[in-house]
Amino acid sequence: MKIAFVGKGGSGKTTLSSLFIRHIAATGSPVVAVDADINQHLGPALGLDDEEAAALPAMGAQLPLIKDHLRGSNPRIASAETMIKTTPPGSGSRLLRVREDNPVYDACARTLELDGAAIRLMVTGPFTESDLGVACYHSKVGAVELCLNHLVDGRDEFVVVDMTAGSDSFASGMFTRFDMTFLVAEPTRKGVSVYRQYKEYARDFGVALRVVGNKVQGQDDIDFLRAEVGDDLLVTVGHSDWVRAMEKGRPPRFELLENANRHALATMFTAADATYGHRDWERYTRQMVHFHLKNAASWGNAKTGADLADQVDPDFVLRENPETVGVSAAGAPQPA
Ligand SMILES: Nc1ncnc2c1ncn2[C@@H]1O[C@H](COP(=O)(O)OP(=O)(O)OP(=O)(O)O)[C@@H](O)[C@H]1O
Ligand SMILES: [Mg+2]
Repeated sequence: MKIAFVGKGGSGKTTLSSLFIRHIAATGSPVVAVDADINQHLGPALGLDDEEAAALPAMGAQLPLIKDHLRGSNPRIASAETMIKTTPPGSGSRLLRVREDNPVYDACARTLELDGAAIRLMVTGPFTESDLGVACYHSKVGAVELCLNHLVDGRDEFVVVDMTAGSDSFASGMFTRFDMTFLVAEPTRKGVSVYRQYKEYARDFGVALRVVGNKVQGQDDIDFLRAEVGDDLLVTVGHSDWVRAMEKGRPPRFELLENANRHALATMFTAADATYGHRDWERYTRQMVHFHLKNAASWGNAKTGADLADQVDPDFVLRENPETVGVSAAGAPQPA
């Protein structure tokens, strides 16, 4: 399951991502945590000190390796240089799984222990001005989008992405890549204005979007959010002393998180899990092709000097269990 946290700067995306990651890890399911936010703070929120966080390998610096791996033997992708952030997988491409070792994790992921459970953390690396454009060939967030477009994830395994609600995710197809998008909003006009913008983009693409109110102090705050976002409001989170202690570098055991906040995380987990039944891999594949053709025409073709529409494999559909399809197509039942 692919889950995004978006929202206005300072709303609590990183904090709520990190709590949600801890919640999933505590259930025993595997998690790949991805920091794709402008302000790279997910590592520290998951307990790394500054030195450890600074030593994390940046996905943005590994784009050639990521592209080369994912391209595999796909004959439609002539070279890693012609692969842009929206280039979709096709026959011959290598797909990624949450539970596996692969060269992308080897190069970009580090394993963290969260109260005894191991998770993987990947970070895009710090952003500069030039990373925030539309025509972003070397886009750091593009490394994440490529991975999501090549990921075949099942129900009990998770990729959680801490990201911005910025123009980068709308220019490409990034915002359509998730089973569930949690929009973190403080009960303020600015907080909900980001929601409106996101909702606008999301509407035409069937994006599952729920609002998580944060730093909510009382009924008046809840009433405000309810009035502004209606039934999209999933749950609210108040001030957390557990979070404050973590910010001081003294994280208590996760099981000591306040009851109300544990309950909020469980509600978010249930809402994310419920989207599994609505998964549609054909639509998912169609959307990545849609955004690829759009990016190819607007800048990719000019940048690479190739017609990137040729990279689209018309017969390919990303699926959770491609090998099962292969076995039945061959007509020979295989021993388990
Ligand atoms: N529920 C909460 N209880 C206590 N402190 C909180 C809570 N939510 C967020 N904070 C604090 O508010 C600050 C901003 O939160 P956070 O860094 O998670 O926001 P963000 O949306 O990721 O910000 P940025 O846009 O800078 O990445 C942090 O110091 C964080 O510890
Ligand atoms: Mg953040």
